[in-house]
Amino acid sequence: KTVTGFASATIGNVACGFDVLGFAITEPGDEVILTQREKRTDLLPVSITSITGDGGALPRDPKKNTSSFVVLKFLEYIRTNKGIDFEGHIELQLKKNLPLSSGMGSSAASAAAALVAANELMGNPCSKMELVHFAIEGERVACGSAHADNAAPAMLGNFVLIRSYNPIDLITIPPPDNLFCTLAHPHIELRTAYARSVLPRTISLKTATEQWGNVGALISGLLTSDYELIGRSLVDAIAEPKRAPLIPGFYSVKNAALEAGALGCSIAGSGPSIFAFSSSYEAACEVGEAMKQAFSNIREKLQSDIWVS
Ligand code: HSE
Repeated sequence: KTVTGFASATIGNVACGFDVLGFAITEPGDEVILTQREKRTDLLPVSITSITGDGGALPRDPKKNTSSFVVLKFLEYIRTNKGIDFEGHIELQLKKNLPLSSGMGSSAASAAAALVAANELMGNPCSKMELVHFAIEGERVACGSAHADNAAPAMLGNFVLIRSYNPIDLITIPPPDNLFCTLAHPHIELRTAYARSVLPRTISLKTATEQWGNVGALISGLLTSDYELIGRSLVDAIAEPKRAPLIPGFYSVKNAALEAGALGCSIAGSGPSIFAFSSSYEAACEVGEAMKQAFSNIREKLQSDIWVS
C-alpha cells in the first residue's frame, strides 16, 4: 500500500506574533510518499528510501530526519494510546519542494506531510489536533526549538494562534476573504537556530506592551476583515529589528512592498523570506513585482522567487 501526504509552506510570527501566530499558504509545499512493506527486523520501522530537492543536505538517518522522526513518534503513540501495533516496515520518500532555511516552514511542511500520510496508512486513527503534537516535536529535531507557529498551520491550515504551549492550546482562525499574501524568497539561507540566537533574552515592559497591543489588534482585524487594522498591526518590535540586519536589503524590500500598496510587510518566520499582505490579488501581484525588483537592486543583487496566495 502506498499513500501520499502534502503540506504547504507556512509563515510564522506574522510580524508581532513571535512563536504564537502563523498561517498556511496554498503553495508551494512538500510531498511525502509512504509505502508499506514486510516487517524488517534489521531496521527501524521507518527507513528513508529517497529525498529529492534538498541538494543532499538533509539527514538520511530516520531518527534525525524530521519527516521520518515524526512517523516513528506517531507509531509509538498509536501503539501506546490506540492499541495499534504496526507489524510492517514503512519506506519513506520525501519530495522537498520548499527551500531549506528559508523562513517558509520547510521542516514543518515535511513533518506535516509525513504525518498526514502515516495517519492515512494506519486507517486515520488520529485527529489532526493529535498529529500537531508530533509535528511540533519534529521542529525540535530540525532546528533545536519546538516552536509551533509553522507546525500548527502546516497541519491545520488557516491562521493558528498558539494561546499556550504547555499544555498546547491552538486556536484556528480562517483568513478574511480578501486577504492575499505575497511571499518573496531571496536565494540565500538563514538557519532558524542562528536567527533565534540573535534575539533578546529579555524585553522591556514598554516593548511588551507595544507587541501585545499589536497581536490583539491583528487577531481582531483578521476576525472582522478589517484590512486597514491588519496592516496597522503588522508591526514587530522584538524580532524584526534584530533579524533585519541578517537579510540583505530587508528595509528596501519592505519599503518597496509598502510603496506598491501592501497593507503591511515583515519577515516570514525567521527569514530570509519576506511576506506582505494585500487586500486584492492584483495588488498582491504588483507587490511581488516590487519586492523582486527591490531584491535585485540591492548591492548583493539577490534573485528571488515570488508566490501569491
Ligand atoms: N517563530 C519562529 C521564529 C519561526 O521566529 O524563530 C521560524 O520559522
